[in-house]
Amino acid sequence: MLARVIRSMAKPARMQSSSLVKPVSLTKIPGRYLAHQEGLPKLPVPPLQQTLDRYMAVLQPIISQEELEHTKHLLDEFGKPGGVGERLQKGLERRARKTENWLSDWWLQTAYLEYRMPVVIHSSPGVVLPKLEFHDRQGQIRYAAKLIAGVLDFKTMIDNETLPVEYLGGKPLCMNQYYQILSSCRIPGPKRDTVINYTLSKSPPTHVTIVHNFQFFVLDVYNSDGSPLTVDQICTQLEKIWNSSLQTNKEPIGILTSQHRNTWGNAYNNLIKDKTNKESVKAIQKSIFTVCLDAPMPRVSDELYLSRVATQMLHGGGSRWNSGNRWFDKTLQFIIGEDGSCGVIYEHAPAEGPPIVALVDHVVEFMRSAETVRSPMIPLPMPKKLRFNITPEIKKDIEKAKQNLNIMVHDLDVKVTVFSHFGKNFPKSQRMSPDAFIQVALQLAYYRNYNRCCSTYESASLRMYRLGRTDTIRSASIDSQHFVQAMDDPSKSNQQKVDLLQKAIVAHRAYTNMAINGQAIDRHLLGLKMQAIEDLTSIPEIFMDTSFAVAMHFNLSTSQVPAKTDCVMCFGPVVPDGYGVCYNPMDEHINFAISAFNSCAETNAAHLSHLLEEALLDMRDVIIQLPKSKL
Ligand code: COA
Repeated sequence: MLARVIRSMAKPARMQSSSLVKPVSLTKIPGRYLAHQEGLPKLPVPPLQQTLDRYMAVLQPIISQEELEHTKHLLDEFGKPGGVGERLQKGLERRARKTENWLSDWWLQTAYLEYRMPVVIHSSPGVVLPKLEFHDRQGQIRYAAKLIAGVLDFKTMIDNETLPVEYLGGKPLCMNQYYQILSSCRIPGPKRDTVINYTLSKSPPTHVTIVHNFQFFVLDVYNSDGSPLTVDQICTQLEKIWNSSLQTNKEPIGILTSQHRNTWGNAYNNLIKDKTNKESVKAIQKSIFTVCLDAPMPRVSDELYLSRVATQMLHGGGSRWNSGNRWFDKTLQFIIGEDGSCGVIYEHAPAEGPPIVALVDHVVEFMRSAETVRSPMIPLPMPKKLRFNITPEIKKDIEKAKQNLNIMVHDLDVKVTVFSHFGKNFPKSQRMSPDAFIQVALQLAYYRNYNRCCSTYESASLRMYRLGRTDTIRSASIDSQHFVQAMDDPSKSNQQKVDLLQKAIVAHRAYTNMAINGQAIDRHLLGLKMQAIEDLTSIPEIFMDTSFAVAMHFNLSTSQVPAKTDCVMCFGPVVPDGYGVCYNPMDEHINFAISAFNSCAETNAAHLSHLLEEALLDMRDVIIQLPKSKL
């Protein structure tokens, strides 16, 4: 998940209980969203020489001296007055003047819509929620009904434009992503995909899709007067769906969406040749969101439970289990298992994780406080089942998709852990940034495993800017390298180790500040490259250089997605020999989800997880062993 805010930075006023608005439009504040958006600054284009200098600095811990010298030479040539760099920079600055955000469209295309790998594992993140206290269909249906009501409550704030604006360091943030996550779906294309959002269409959707035993249903969730169905009403409707989809031998049509995007693009065109299929697909795409009522998964020990749920969220467990119980192109899918497993999978193109977990936090809070309104039982029509005509060709596509998906499922190695020794309160008590503390620990864990530093990606929010998405914090720095090398060096004193740790943490926080203020290097370099492509000039040598390839090979792809709910987001690695690491730092514990590929002999999620735990504990120990006056 290369593209990946700042819930903790943005004091989430919306999460206070008063934020649960009534499902009526009395509070509508028309035009509020646009007025807010227009007040946001535009993403700056950083100065060229600044980026080139910083690029050289980030290469230091990951590139050999010899390669560095070669790269320095290329960068000097690129950046010289009147050179290629200057020309591209001017082009970028022109683009920045003419567009709302010089980066957002390029980013959407290159990071998502033109990315051809399956969205499953390679792009779509999952969210693992704590195990629910039910073990049967009754509990599953009741929970699903409340959850649907909770999401509709959140939707009211979006529709009414009353969603409280988030702030970061006193600055308001772009709220656009919240308006992209409902009633939205990715659509495959043979070369590039598109995302369609029905929120502003002439007839915005009033239904959600429910999928059970691979069968899709349209569930209307609003009454004719525009009020949402009550929890009881939704329950009744879900019962009807459940009872009419008891057979499990149906074709898992949704599994098609797990394919490589070109393959799926072709299969899609074939699928929608049939009018009934086209209408059914459109009903899924247009729905507000999808709820997947999953069959029970194989039981595992308590220790492995969260890791198993992570796989259920990321891929559904394979064609024998729940992978056919999805439409992976759908932006938002809530997953509720009959066995109490629960979570979310979302298609990444329209939004980053933080708005998704903000929605999850709201729903969880809503469900806690929701009173059961006993509604007059006006009979509601049977939810419509979506029909698919399966031709032999479609059947063949489904079989191919099953095979590919099962290979991907076997290849994914996920470990979810709860680090329970301390949470973000410990680094805070030491006047250290918790995020930087965790990132430095990750550097230490990796170094201990591989005896080298690697190119590391951490998502940084650009939402202080209009339509801002993310940039990259490069967590492997010269300071983190000095610390990880010193930590296990017996010739170094505790004081020296702590001094180096503090320096590494300060450097990380400084990079974070630079990134969230639009001054990091990765998106700027991408912009310069895209500008060269647009100008139809040859790609500058700095982008063909070995150093560039190494810098872009993120063995550690990481992200903090903080939530109030005791959950954790998870995603796959972005390179074959890498790790995906996502974490939710709570006050007294930290939830981690680490992924790797089984096909890579050098990676192992559980082992890195173990090393990370040791690194966090060792870092705490060197700090607390020091007399307070020496800190
Ligand atoms: N001393 C004491 N407390 C400190 C501190 C210090 N030196 N530095 C930070 N803190 C506090 C902060 O005030 C904050 O307090 P809070 O919990 O009361 O809000 C807390 O520690 C967390 O701060 P920190 O750990 O530094 O991280 P952050 O919340 O600023 O987040 C990023 C850092 C990089 C994660 C964030 O800026 C960001 O950009 N997130 C985007 C993530 C994203 O988009 N992910 C997408 C995934 S799809």
